[in-house]
Amino acid sequence: MFNLEIFDLKLETEIIGRNFIYCDEVISTNAEILQNKPLYKKAGTVLLAEKQLKGKGRKERTWQSAKGQNLTFSILLTGEMVDRININHLNLAASLVVASAIENLYQIRTELKWPNDVLINGKKVSGILIETSVKGNKVERVVIGIGINLNQNVFQGEFNIPPTSLKIETGENIVRETILAEILNILEELIIEVSKKPNVILDDWREKCKMIGDKITITDGEQFKSGIFYDIDSDGYLLLKRNDTIEKVHFGDVSLC
Ligand code: BTN
Repeated sequence: MFNLEIFDLKLETEIIGRNFIYCDEVISTNAEILQNKPLYKKAGTVLLAEKQLKGKGRKERTWQSAKGQNLTFSILLTGEMVDRININHLNLAASLVVASAIENLYQIRTELKWPNDVLINGKKVSGILIETSVKGNKVERVVIGIGINLNQNVFQGEFNIPPTSLKIETGENIVRETILAEILNILEELIIEVSKKPNVILDDWREKCKMIGDKITITDGEQFKSGIFYDIDSDGYLLLKRNDTIEKVHFGDVSLC
């Protein structure tokens, strides 16, 4: 059971998580909060579900997470919060937030994998899916969906990156309320920084991505291409060096060659 009192004591935000909705089961927290229901109107609303029946991952994958052991939640941004935001920057920032929360609380090193996976010892501990709803040509709602493996010991199924949990990596039982509050506290600060100082976010992200400079393969469905992970550009796209040309990559899964 999620202890709301412990969570509340640790939460230091003004907006993010102040409208907190806890539920037992939903299809997907992202899909749910993207609906324009009265419950999900306030900017900063957080929806946490103990179980997702069809949690969404990037590229039409599903996100599997054992009931009650991990965190699967979505954060809603609306209004002024989304007006100046660059979604690519937010994507990178969200992975930095999760990585910082883990490092602050558990003194364990994390790494980032483009665009927004958080790894520990080369295994995936967290995935992030940002989705938007658009009215006319204006983005109205931005949803940051975060899945983070905390206390799960065994993972079954097929994964493009081997999964892990914080408990597996640290040997400790993870207090879900503490890490959720830490994530939201850092996120609120970083959301302001994303629009004011995107270069800081880009530099921090580069520093935590150990693949820059490595030979990689980018896979997108049936297509793949190899080259050197040269850098990310000012919009957060991956720059792939192939022979003497630099190609911009918008989507895809990165793996080391
Ligand atoms: C990925 O790595 O493929 C992204 C996974 C994102 C999973 C989270 S869990 C909470 C939120 N709701 C969803 O349906 N997906 C995201």
